[in-house]
Amino acid sequence: MSTLQRFSMAIEKPLLERLAAMVAKSKYANRSEFIRDMLRERLVEEEWKGDEEVVGTITLVYDHETRELSKKLTRLQHHHHNVVLASTHVHLDEHMCAEMILTKGPASEIEEMASLLRQQKGVLHASLSLSSTGKELG
Ligand code: NI
Repeated sequence: MSTLQRFSMAIEKPLLERLAAMVAKSKYANRSEFIRDMLRERLVEEEWKGDEEVVGTITLVYDHETRELSKKLTRLQHHHHNVVLASTHVHLDEHMCAEMILTKGPASEIEEMASLLRQQKGVLHASLSLSSTGKELG
């Protein structure tokens, strides 16, 4: 990690008050750490927009009794095997399953796979959590 540099900045009073309220609510130890993480969030968004190599997690909730669904979900992941690192399956109850798919690769390919998984009949919810390889965040 790089050494810390100090800088000062000008900000409107109402905005500064909103920042103070957000920091207090978030339980961050200090304003600097809060702003650093806010900036990193923005950098991760930029990595995804720029189609860089990223890390992401897809979470699916589905009914495994939907005809052919398990097979279709597996087939889609095999088709994108180059971005799938691992997956974990949890049986939520008699019918429902949750599957977490850990991915790493070009942002556009991960988004495409997430979109295709989401569209399958019987998938009740699909979320894509955007993260980073961390190389540009230090
Ligand atoms: Ni299951």
